[in-house]
Amino acid sequence: MLKLIRNKSLKNLNTFGVEAKAKNYYELNSDIDIFDFLSDMDSITKPVYFLGGGANTLFTTNYKGTVVKINMQGITLMSQDDDSYYVEVNAGVKWDDFISFCVENKYYGAENLVAIPGTVGAAPIQNIGAYGVEAKDIIYKVYYYEIDTFIFKQRDAKSCNFGYRNSIFKNELKDKVIITKVLFKLSKTPEFKLEYGRINEELQAKGIKEPSISNIAQTISEIRASKLPDVNEIGNAGSFFKNPIISNEKLNSLKKDFPNIVSYPISDNEVKLAAGWLIDNAGLKGYQIGGAAVHQNQALVLINKDNATGQEVLTLAEYIQKEIMQIYGVELFAEVVFV
Ligand code: EPU
Repeated sequence: MLKLIRNKSLKNLNTFGVEAKAKNYYELNSDIDIFDFLSDMDSITKPVYFLGGGANTLFTTNYKGTVVKINMQGITLMSQDDDSYYVEVNAGVKWDDFISFCVENKYYGAENLVAIPGTVGAAPIQNIGAYGVEAKDIIYKVYYYEIDTFIFKQRDAKSCNFGYRNSIFKNELKDKVIITKVLFKLSKTPEFKLEYGRINEELQAKGIKEPSISNIAQTISEIRASKLPDVNEIGNAGSFFKNPIISNEKLNSLKKDFPNIVSYPISDNEVKLAAGWLIDNAGLKGYQIGGAAVHQNQALVLINKDNATGQEVLTLAEYIQKEIMQIYGVELFAEVVFV
């Protein structure tokens, strides 16, 4: 049964932990709830915002429409062939619970994406990624309802137009669909990706020569924990900005003033800059506006240090964007969605 809650506090429903109230609020726990919700769509107060784990959302003010928490649970092994397992996961499942399921069962391919806050239904929207793997590498199909037509549809990974923190769900299908479940394809044999960052180094330091899937998940969790604040202790939404993409030409001119600038080639003529380095090198680590601050261990993360409001986080983000433009002539785009 769908239950309408009025004036719902969203403080515990966003990992920044900022206070904001939704005029109307529903939780969708089953297919029946989704159907009831869509049937009532005409009478529901607009706009509507679909919320997963609130791990990538910044509420900047109270929400005047309806917030809908996607909460359908369940992980099912649907089928397998010689090489792969096909696992269907409902949208409300916590992403890291799905990763634990894969690690425990030795379903390979998802382990580098350990310890990321948020839900499975939100993962395809921005194609979450870490340590050399992106959600797109293991997504086989995405299932969703089209809000206008009530039609239940599916899309294979190719037609989701996945890019760096991007997909069709952030563009053509933005606000038009409710993602209800994702079908993942995991490998029966290990194909570990250990080259990124400090993974290899840390495994060696532990004396692990032939790592198991659990060793890798554990090690990546530890690396993450050393840089990224735990959302249960300090409000944050992981990387606040995307790493900007610039031309080789622009990089060469920046290198004259900033010889240590961190960049990764992504094509013959473009590179991705480490936004964390840009912010750090601008001297902004620890910089604070009201209760919002730049994290000391990873400058790409903005934190709710002391009862920050959404507006304070937004003001800090805009200040950083202005500084980065002024110093490097580079535009930073938010990864976090402002509501
Ligand atoms: N760096 C600094 N100072 C800082 C932060 C970073 O100099 O304060 C330098 C690091 O030394 C390193 C480089 O910048 O040379 C990149 O840093 P890091 O490896 O920590 O990764 P990132 O590019 O900042 C990205 C993702 C993270 C993901 C990590 C690991 C984006 C926007 N962020 O961060 O994803 O965990 O790589 O793969 O692409 C997220 O999206 O929320 C997220 C945490």
